[in-house]
Amino acid sequence: MDIQNKIAIITGGASGLGLGACEELVIKGAKVCIFDLNEEAAQQAVEALGPENATYAKVNVTDEASVEAGIEHCLNVYGELHIVLNCAGIGPPEKVIHRDGAPLPLENFKKIVDINLFGSFNVLSKAAAKMATMKPLNEDNSRGVIINVASVAAFDGQIGQPAYAASKAGIVGMALPIARELARYGIRVNTIAPGLFKTPLAMSLPDNVVEALGNSVDYPKRLGSPTEFGKLVVHMAENDYLNGEVIRLDGAIRMAAK
Ligand SMILES: NC(=O)c1ccc[n+]([C@@H]2O[C@H](COP(=O)([O-])OP(=O)(O)OC[C@H]3O[C@@H](n4cnc5c(N)ncnc54)[C@H](O)[C@@H]3O)[C@@H](O)[C@H]2O)c1
Repeated sequence: MDIQNKIAIITGGASGLGLGACEELVIKGAKVCIFDLNEEAAQQAVEALGPENATYAKVNVTDEASVEAGIEHCLNVYGELHIVLNCAGIGPPEKVIHRDGAPLPLENFKKIVDINLFGSFNVLSKAAAKMATMKPLNEDNSRGVIINVASVAAFDGQIGQPAYAASKAGIVGMALPIARELARYGIRVNTIAPGLFKTPLAMSLPDNVVEALGNSVDYPKRLGSPTEFGKLVVHMAENDYLNGEVIRLDGAIRMAAK
């Protein structure tokens, strides 16, 4: 798929990896519609990307009506939809058994799964239903691509990540059946499982901690950049033969238990 003038919804596009993907897609000539709860950061992102290249809808990915309204906003502004990137996510660590012996409250576990897994499916399903009605783009009858964001925690989850790892493993698990189902509409489904990236969370850590995290990566010995993440998003959108795949983007790191 040629990305020039294609339309992309990026959830979580106001920050970190989502913002990096917005930048790379806009460089390739796409227009992006950011879905995010953080209005101020999203407005700044639209300004930086250029209002002619980007728009914003205040969307809570866990809310059905909010996602429907966001997709309507995107279609009202741009008229089409070809790329969806599910980047909104949270991941506060919490162990199964707290220091005081109390179990992890189910509510906390549910919140992470709700945003990361159910939120991704909520956007994916509603966007796919719209994309399925669009005009095919090429001789392969391509209508576009949906990219979900998992994490290496889906495969090597650490102590303190039961909810986060479960939510990301759910994203990996749903990918193939959905890719198989959406094949008839020419919609591809791919997944990125990032390792350790330099996003606002990492930037708020002390320098020595960031350096230690970087040193734990096999090669290159540093955190990944949102630009490197964005380049994989671009490739997943451009390459029509890449479908139903999960790609780890992680400098070969395999996370230890803690
Ligand atoms: N940064 C990393 O090293 C890393 C590693 C592996 C996976 N990931 C995954 O990549 C994704 C992005 O991570 P990041 O580090 O860029 O995070 P980030 O916190 O910088 O950005 C996440 C964005 O999602 C938005 N968001 C949160 N909840 C939302 C909701 N309910 N509805 C709409 N928007 C919401 C936030 O406002 C924020 O702008 C997450 O899914 C994360 O799990 C990140």
